[in-house]
Amino acid sequence: MAGGYKYFEAVEKHAGLLGILTAVMVSIGGLAEITPLFMAANTVKAAEGLKPYDPLRLAGKDIYVREGCYLCHSQMIRALRAETERYGPYSVAGESVYDRPFQWGSKRTGPDLARVGGKYSDEWQRVHLIDPRSVVPDSNMPSYAWLSNAMVDAADIQARMRVLRTLGDPYSDEDIAGAKSALEGKTEMDAMIAYLQGLGINRPTESAAASGAAP
Ligand code: HEC
Repeated sequence: MAGGYKYFEAVEKHAGLLGILTAVMVSIGGLAEITPLFMAANTVKAAEGLKPYDPLRLAGKDIYVREGCYLCHSQMIRALRAETERYGPYSVAGESVYDRPFQWGSKRTGPDLARVGGKYSDEWQRVHLIDPRSVVPDSNMPSYAWLSNAMVDAADIQARMRVLRTLGDPYSDEDIAGAKSALEGKTEMDAMIAYLQGLGINRPTESAAASGAAP
């Protein structure tokens, strides 16, 4: 042991050497954690029945990001009992494969929205976005009334879908060709509601969650 201590002492007494060796150790640890993540994108498969966003929902998702809804809403149900009793089955990675950027979030001023699709009618969503306090009196969510007056900007929807296709979203040529007309006459409110109503509709069944498709 005495011999080993000699090396320890040498390292501890030389700040430069200690720094270099610390950096080497941290790098090895970092690589061990980070390298497997490069492979993760290829191993996560889309959840059964999950389709890439149709043009209207895709536009809605971009508006959701633009408006910063993620600053108050997460889209990730943790595998904790209190969460699953409130929101439903916990989120699994395969549900988010078409979300770029993903909207998991970590801040919850409002409730998690991962499974909000179909929870309310389109009309409720519209009224709530225009004037949250008219349906939830003690809400502190801001109003997004202007979404009703703005038309969806369809100029680059096809380009966006093409880029998503290069990243692996299975859009067909027909999907992309029809994208512009799918947005014709639609307001940003329509797009937002379509997006919200699609959230979590491909939720994993209880049995899929129980079979260990862990998040
Ligand atoms: C300042 C924080 C804040 C922001 C920003 C915000 N919300 Fe909310 N949201 C809340 C709160 C708080 C509630 C709960 C009270 C209520 O229903 O209004 C809520 C509720 C909701 C609900 C109902 C959820 C449920 O399960 O009842 C939806 C849907 C929703 N928000 C969508 C949005 C969208 C879309 C945006 C962006 C356009 C947004 N929110 C931005 C705070 C926020």
